[in-house]
Amino acid sequence: MRMKRNQNVDQPQIYSEGYYRLLNEVEERHWWCRGMRSIIDALMEPFFKTAKEWRVLDAGCGAGYVLDWLREKQVSRFDVGFDLSPHALKYCKARGHDRIALASMLELPYADKSFDFIISINVLQHLPLPDGDFKAVSECLRVLKPGGLLLIQTNSKRFDNSDELEYEDFRRYTVEKLGQIVTDAGFEIERLTYADRLDVYRDRLRRLRPKPTPNGATADSSGEDAPQKGLPLQLPPPHLNWLANILTLLMKVEARGLRKSGQTQGIGHSTMAVVRRPL
Ligand SMILES: C[S@@+](CC[C@H](N)C(=O)[O-])C[C@H]1O[C@@H](n2cnc3c(N)ncnc32)[C@H](O)[C@@H]1O
Repeated sequence: MRMKRNQNVDQPQIYSEGYYRLLNEVEERHWWCRGMRSIIDALMEPFFKTAKEWRVLDAGCGAGYVLDWLREKQVSRFDVGFDLSPHALKYCKARGHDRIALASMLELPYADKSFDFIISINVLQHLPLPDGDFKAVSECLRVLKPGGLLLIQTNSKRFDNSDELEYEDFRRYTVEKLGQIVTDAGFEIERLTYADRLDVYRDRLRRLRPKPTPNGATADSSGEDAPQKGLPLQLPPPHLNWLANILTLLMKVEARGLRKSGQTQGIGHSTMAVVRRPL
């Protein structure tokens, strides 16, 4: 059963242990996660070129895969991650990350001006209404050094005007909306674009499936739950690895297009921003 958005709750109920187990499992191996990593690489490449011993914060670090990626990039001398869930931190520890904290993006337990770079992947859309996103971005500004960078990846709204959200994600963002939030918080925009074109087509195909009937059952229908609430990813079966590799490759082609500075894309399942705290 797909859950409908509930305006009365503070947070979506997606933080079961199973959620983080799946996150830990898929992030390294799922074609979409690999593809998104190339897109983030492409957006950050020009900034990483001049990065020297940065202090880096992964905000909403989940099972720790982004922290692995940061270690690989060798741009920092000090990586820190935090998440709202103790289950998430358990997986980070198992990946060998020990500078991690249990904390919320709404109130960062770090001193003003302490980081050169903050990365926050798919967290913004989970923050509580009405202004959790603005509070979180403002907190990021506070703990960044002047000139420091914030990269945000969140759900896009560009390709779909419907207000009905699948799973429990509270929000989707147009580039205009995300741009407004970051500039209102005091950031300067370096890059602001949609990304992940492929998933838009995938989503459109998915929508061709039978719609729920008024009593809530799907017309086709097994009525089965989503694979894991809030995390609509499953590893494809091994015999489809060839297809997964092609899909990753297509995303790498998209990433190549985004590598050029100033390049923006008008369609994509994700909304991405790289923004700077003014000097
Ligand atoms: C889709 S997962 C992404 C995890 C990680 N950024 C990644 O890309 O693998 C969303 C994460 O946001 C975390 N989260 C949700 N609300 C949060 C908050 N207020 N403060 C910190 N983390 C939060 C969840 O616990 C979860 O780990």
